[in-house]
Amino acid sequence: MKLFFLFKIILWFCSIRAEEYNLSGDAGQAYSIDILMGHPKQKLRVIVDTGSTTLAIASYARRENDEYFHVDNSTTLDDSGKEVQAKYSQGNWIGHYVTDFVEIPSLKNIREVRSDFAIITKSHKFFVNGSGWQGLLGLAYEPVGAWGEHVIVGSWLDSLECDLGKSVSFELKLCGVQSTTNATHYGKFSMIVDENIPNNTSPFRTPILHKRWYEVGVLAIGIRHPNETLNNSITPDTFVSDNPNEEMCQKLNQQKSIVDSGTTDIRLPDEVYRELVHKLRQESQALNMLILDEFWYHGEAACWPEPQEWLALPWLQIALLSDVADNQYFTLEIPPQNYMRVVTARNSSGDGGSVSQFCYKLGLEAGGVDTVLGYTAMEGLKVLFNRSGGWIGFETSSCGPNARVSGPYTVPYSFIDSCKLTRSDSETAVSIKAAQWALCVISIVAGFVLIYLLAPAVRMCILRRRQSSAHSVSQDALVDQELS
Ligand SMILES: *[C@@H]1O[C@H](CO)[C@@H](O)[C@H](O)[C@H]1NC(C)=O
Ligand SMILES: *[C@@H]1O[C@H](CO)[C@@H](O)[C@H](O)[C@H]1NC(C)=O
Ligand SMILES: *[C@@H]1O[C@H](CO)[C@@H](O)[C@H](O)[C@H]1NC(C)=O
Ligand SMILES: *[C@@H]1O[C@H](CO)[C@@H](O)[C@H](O)[C@H]1NC(C)=O
Ligand SMILES: *[C@@H]1O[C@H](CO)[C@@H](O)[C@H](O)[C@H]1NC(C)=O
Ligand SMILES: *[C@@H]1O[C@H](CO)[C@@H](O)[C@H](O)[C@H]1NC(C)=O
Ligand SMILES: *[C@@H]1O[C@H](CO)[C@@H](O)[C@H](O)[C@H]1NC(C)=O
Repeated sequence: MKLFFLFKIILWFCSIRAEEYNLSGDAGQAYSIDILMGHPKQKLRVIVDTGSTTLAIASYARRENDEYFHVDNSTTLDDSGKEVQAKYSQGNWIGHYVTDFVEIPSLKNIREVRSDFAIITKSHKFFVNGSGWQGLLGLAYEPVGAWGEHVIVGSWLDSLECDLGKSVSFELKLCGVQSTTNATHYGKFSMIVDENIPNNTSPFRTPILHKRWYEVGVLAIGIRHPNETLNNSITPDTFVSDNPNEEMCQKLNQQKSIVDSGTTDIRLPDEVYRELVHKLRQESQALNMLILDEFWYHGEAACWPEPQEWLALPWLQIALLSDVADNQYFTLEIPPQNYMRVVTARNSSGDGGSVSQFCYKLGLEAGGVDTVLGYTAMEGLKVLFNRSGGWIGFETSSCGPNARVSGPYTVPYSFIDSCKLTRSDSETAVSIKAAQWALCVISIVAGFVLIYLLAPAVRMCILRRRQSSAHSVSQDALVDQELS
């Protein structure tokens, strides 16, 4: 009996070990992954970013970091010579549209593919000093890719699907900090070929309302006490009674609400932010916590000589539209360990003179009109992005803070109407997808034929493909406009 128990423990230990974490990052930096680019392969590090589309990599030494993709060293790189650019909520860059071989060595089920991407030749406030990454792996949809005159850079995911001839989904399991004394965070990025699904186990799904960014319906955000009342929490009653939430819901989705692993905080429209932070501050005062207003309202860090657990602070609740019916929702339950973000964890009690310091920043920020669920809202959850199915699934994860998902809850009216959400027709999206695939099949066939012809002809073909894909993008935009 004891032996059996021991055996089970060993098995459990092995299964823990078998889980290979391939993402990591320093406090305040997003999660990044190793990537191999070009032939011979050059190893680089990129952020996994669901808030953009293009794989973009530095191609020059910067003041902040001298690691970059050595373009001249790759014998397989094809530079279109076209200038492209991209803007982010922070920073921007200019570069070239190229193709070359790309591999993510930690993804065992995904082979190397020739992918479209951009080499960055000039940037402004984009790279971060001492960050350890040299680019971004964009995972969103083509319409928001880096662009230039008559071109949009295709994404690595599209190249991958083109190569496989199948659609793929990906999963982000972000685990937060390593321990109370190490502020490095870790996680796992994995790809799932849609065909090989044993059975669908993700019960809480929110529809992707527009396939540009990962745009979803965030219906409400509120707080909930760890043990006692449901007084402040989001329940179907809060939506029904005097319905103050209709206004909040419309504010949250006024422009768009997106799920963005490349952003740190949960970013909220100004008014919603102010209300929420005011409540949190009140709670902390009621608990006699000494936290200054600079922390709550001005993004400053608060520090203590020993690590804090935040057990008494309330949880955040984020209500998301369910894809089962438009009068259904579920809530992400986010513990205080997520939004009280660790920024420094230094234990140096001893000689040497330096002191122990554990600093935290609020994982919430105000940001004009958009709602952005940054990785603060994803830590402790397993988030599945099903691109072809057009939904994002949320589940409790085996690592990180003990975030949960609860629901589903039903209300007697449609959130689409009351929150003024618009949704692009999934069928048109599928037919556009099919058109893109037909296009990539044609270009592969054309490629085989043209291998026997002259090099300039090949270039022509590539050029034509790029132009056609840019064309299908503007179609997509048109469809969206018609529907909204
Ligand atoms: C690029 O090539 C040069 C010369 O062949 C070599 O010395 C250098 O190490 C290479 N750099 C990388 C990053 O592969
Ligand atoms: C980057 O940080 C290092 C130390 O961490 C500093 O010496 C250097 O001046 C910084 N570079 C820039 C461009 O800020
Ligand atoms: C924190 O953890 C990372 C990853 O395991 C490790 O590389 C780093 O050295 C650790 N930092 C400290 C201060 O222990
Ligand atoms: C919450 O529960 C803990 C332990 O179960 C208890 O000590 C504490 O008083 C409770 N808090 C409130 C506000 O009831
Ligand atoms: C909600 O709060 C009010 C006062 O703020 C209190 O009287 C009431 O009992 C609370 N309700 C629940 C369910 O705890
Ligand atoms: C910090 O280090 C001291 C001794 O080096 C140790 O006793 C203490 O438990 C550590 N604190 C934490 C929070 O790990
Ligand atoms: C993605 O969604 C499609 C359609 O709903 C489904 O067939 C496929 O199995 C899903 N993939 C994953 C990984 O759940």
